[in-house]
Amino acid sequence: MCGIVGYTGAQPAQPILMEGLSRLEYRGYDSAGVAIMDGDRIRLLKAKGRLSNLGALLKGSPLSGQTGIGHTRWATHGEPTDLNAHPHTDMKGDIALVHNGIIENHARLRGMLEERGCAFSSETDTEVIAHLLNLLWDGSMLSTLQRALPMLEGSYALAVLCAAEPGAIFCTRKDSPLVLGLSSQAQYLASDIPALLAHTREIELLEDREIAVLCPESVTVYDAYGAQRDLRPTHVDWDVESAEKGGYPHFMLKEIHEEPTALRKTLSAHADGHMLRRGVIPITREEAQSLSSLTIVACGTAYHAGMIGRYAIERLARLPVAVDVASEFRYRQPLLDKDDLFLAISQSGETADTLAALREAARLGARTMALTNVVGSSIAREAAPNVLYTHAGPEIAVASTKAYITQVEIMLLLAVDLAQKRGVISEEEASELLADMAEIPAQAGTLLSCEESVARFASRHYDRRHVFYIGRGMDHALAMEASLKLKEISYIMSEAYAAGELKHGTIALIEEGTLVCALLTQPHLADKTLSNIREVKSRGARVLAICTESLQEKTAAAADEVWAIPDTHPILAPLLAAIPVQLLAYHMAVSRGCDVDKPRNLAKSVTVE
Ligand code: G6P
Repeated sequence: MCGIVGYTGAQPAQPILMEGLSRLEYRGYDSAGVAIMDGDRIRLLKAKGRLSNLGALLKGSPLSGQTGIGHTRWATHGEPTDLNAHPHTDMKGDIALVHNGIIENHARLRGMLEERGCAFSSETDTEVIAHLLNLLWDGSMLSTLQRALPMLEGSYALAVLCAAEPGAIFCTRKDSPLVLGLSSQAQYLASDIPALLAHTREIELLEDREIAVLCPESVTVYDAYGAQRDLRPTHVDWDVESAEKGGYPHFMLKEIHEEPTALRKTLSAHADGHMLRRGVIPITREEAQSLSSLTIVACGTAYHAGMIGRYAIERLARLPVAVDVASEFRYRQPLLDKDDLFLAISQSGETADTLAALREAARLGARTMALTNVVGSSIAREAAPNVLYTHAGPEIAVASTKAYITQVEIMLLLAVDLAQKRGVISEEEASELLADMAEIPAQAGTLLSCEESVARFASRHYDRRHVFYIGRGMDHALAMEASLKLKEISYIMSEAYAAGELKHGTIALIEEGTLVCALLTQPHLADKTLSNIREVKSRGARVLAICTESLQEKTAAAADEVWAIPDTHPILAPLLAAIPVQLLAYHMAVSRGCDVDKPRNLAKSVTVE
């Protein structure tokens, strides 16, 4: 999705903006641009395609000045062209702005502005804001913005330059992320924290409809009613290295290798030895006992973490769990009330559909909670104080890996906690599970050494046109994530199937040489899945099986190739099995020459509906 950066200080703005934009490339984009104040004149350059195209233009005609804004655009309204790229300006070029989000009433505003003589130069919804600000201009950008914002419907994160007030950047947000980076000599803004880490870790979060005025040595924030408020910066402990590749060829590979650490950090934030920390999971014993159901809502990979959670919570805590994709949940008139617990899962904490679903659940009176990786994100703030954090550190690759595995870990901790509070398992049983969980980070570390054989396998099978993933129970939930991982980065058509369901139609697609990846980590279901392996084998499939060590021998008798993961409690097994399937997707994509970290058409954080 689109990225925004801004800088005002004593240094030349251009390299700082370009560096910031390069850190937002991972979000997905198809054009880029910058606008910089040169004295009291705004100069801008923009280019379709990769940031390097903009870099080449800037090399030919650099923009001087110490105050500027930049943008990477992921096209929604209008093709990815030079003209549609941000920044956009009013007709005189005295106001320039960048925008993330969607102005839903843009067509009406455009009509009104055209009637008043405005000539548009792009097809974007964003350009209406520049003309509107010009139309309402009263000599002060702050008060002009305060009058313009109520006219905008939809979502926005906005950063505005104005020739009449050089040296200042005006910014505001509604339902779209924007953070300020504070320092003594210069001020920064960005749509995402990693873009600021090289400069500061003092982050000021803006609430919806607040306006901030950034000058080189000061930041002033006005609330939605126009009153100035005190700054309340948050210190983020993410370091710059965690947002860099650190010698790995891709962020995705680096992030897979960070999984043991991410699992360890997340566990120790929620458990002390073999005991869950009190109050970390914000639900009392009485509440847990009176619950009638849990609804989990998320998108993409986070939805798959929720699916694993369903199996674990129903099995351990005996609580009915429904899992839904956020874009469906929000429009299906869900049935929830105060006895229902609702959990939104989102790595970024900014996914528009998940945020809307959380609001809908709160409106219906359900007890709402969030699980996210980003402190201060919109979803975290909306659900506060009922927020569970993964401690995965910044995740840059579009394909989620370490965030997913820590989301699954939290789902398992939630299952243990609910089971204990509902009196389904004893304290000893809970502490045994936590003891097994404490072993997982080290076991995950050992598993990473399977990478070489995964890479060899990928080099033999990367030219497959389609791949099936099968499994039962939690293995089916993991198969869904394994399949998504493969298709999003390698573009191989892939499908995940409940192993027992395959024969009700999809088995028709199995032919000589079809690659089937079977997951067998649940001992009570292994024999059933082994039968399903035999069914596809007898129709010509080539079967790769991923199973636990104790199932290795019998699995080897049925499959063509077997990768074993260490034995653990079956509920915890998906944490380990996730590693080989992520590595498989990665190496298949690398073997096919794909842009692993920035897959086509995808965005890391989808902040529009
Ligand atoms: C996008 C990303 C996925 C991610 C999904 C949900 O589609 O490409 O990798 O799983 O959004 O993101 P969230 O930040 O809410 O977990």
